[in-house]
Amino acid sequence: MKFFIDTANLSEIQEAQDLGVLDGVTTNPSLMAKEGISGKENVINHYKAICAIVDGDVSAEVISTDYEGMIREGEELAALDEKIVVKIPMIKDGIKALRYFSEKGIKTNCTLIFSAGQALLAAKAGATYVSPFIGRLDDISYDGIQLIEQIRTIFDNYGFDTEILAASVRNPIHILRCAEIGSDVMTGPLSSILALLKHPLTDSGLAKFLEDHAKAEAAAAK
Ligand code: G3P
Repeated sequence: MKFFIDTANLSEIQEAQDLGVLDGVTTNPSLMAKEGISGKENVINHYKAICAIVDGDVSAEVISTDYEGMIREGEELAALDEKIVVKIPMIKDGIKALRYFSEKGIKTNCTLIFSAGQALLAAKAGATYVSPFIGRLDDISYDGIQLIEQIRTIFDNYGFDTEILAASVRNPIHILRCAEIGSDVMTGPLSSILALLKHPLTDSGLAKFLEDHAKAEAAAAK
């Protein structure tokens, strides 16, 4: 399963990249706003800075909600760097835009997916990725993980190339469940990725190894 980081924060992206496990980045307008990025030039420069850090795909979302606007914005974004994936919302004009970009060989990520029907439609339109938001479904008492399972079954039934990019990941258990089901990608915050490291027996085991080593060294030095 590919690991994407879901942030526009450059130092977090750099930290994940330095860890050696990062396959890509996803951003959205809220994450860009959180970093205080506004104005076309700043937005463009920020995407370029992200692309300079990471080796894989970088999702950059259009703001337009009409077909012509999405095409114009998407083409501008895609021209910035070959790593850019144009992120398109799951709306009617978005489906048409997915088809347009697919035919032009430009990668897309269809965002704000909350049902298997939406994922199926985006896959039929040629989306490179679909982004089901599992955390936001959990928030309203729907099972986000079950949606990933449903989409996996549908895509496998028909051999769709579209990759499932589990988004709105909030914790390490989400990551593990996605991996068990066979999600192609998960995107989450750095904290959820780092949480996979942790186990109390690892910490106590390492402390004991180091203690025993120090004792042996001290005994040998006598
Ligand atoms: O990738 C989508 C993601 O940014 C949404 O996450 O935590 O705002 O639901 P969240």
